[in-house]
Amino acid sequence: MAKIRIALFASGNGSNAMNLIRHFASNTSVEVAFVLSNKADAGIVKSASSKGIETLVFTNEEVADGEFLVNVCSKYSIDFIVLAGYLRLIPAQLIQAFPERIINIHPALLPKYGGKNMYGDKVHQAIVDANETETGITIHFVNEQFDKGKIIAQYVCPVHPTDSIDDVRENVQHLEHTFFPFVVEKVIKELKFAPRRAR
Ligand code: GRF
Repeated sequence: MAKIRIALFASGNGSNAMNLIRHFASNTSVEVAFVLSNKADAGIVKSASSKGIETLVFTNEEVADGEFLVNVCSKYSIDFIVLAGYLRLIPAQLIQAFPERIINIHPALLPKYGGKNMYGDKVHQAIVDANETETGITIHFVNEQFDKGKIIAQYVCPVHPTDSIDDVRENVQHLEHTFFPFVVEKVIKELKFAPRRAR
């Protein structure tokens, strides 16, 4: 049977995207078809292409164009999309073309500390400033608003009064790298429909 094909969207260092690439490298039913970025100088562009992964870089205008992205995904026979540190809003047309087939990871326990401009160290800074005693990660379906889609899974870690932003980032990343690939794999296995290309 044809493998389910994932597109990874990333704008940053791409530690999560690379972790997913490693996770699925020897998978018999799922494969990473390409990495898409809106930043030519993002770490993920270099890391993924050096591993021989097809890497597509588009402008912010192009990635805001739903029809354009639907066409790219169709050209590569994409079944499922994973956002891993991707900072642009997903256009409505792509969401409609991939209902409950686009997921995101967020470095906090949504609905707290989410939304536009809540990304990276801004999130961890806000957690420390608010003296939170715990934080974590949220994996959720993507809808037309930043960080508002249906939650799939959350994992929690403590925040101690002495923790710096570096400590919080490290603990959250540990959760991300440990759990994200398995949640992605589980969601894909539970898809109610046959892979898009096989229909
Ligand atoms: C992660 O913290 C993820 O939760 C968020 O963006 C960050 C990306 O980190 N959406 P990396 O680029 O995967 O290292």
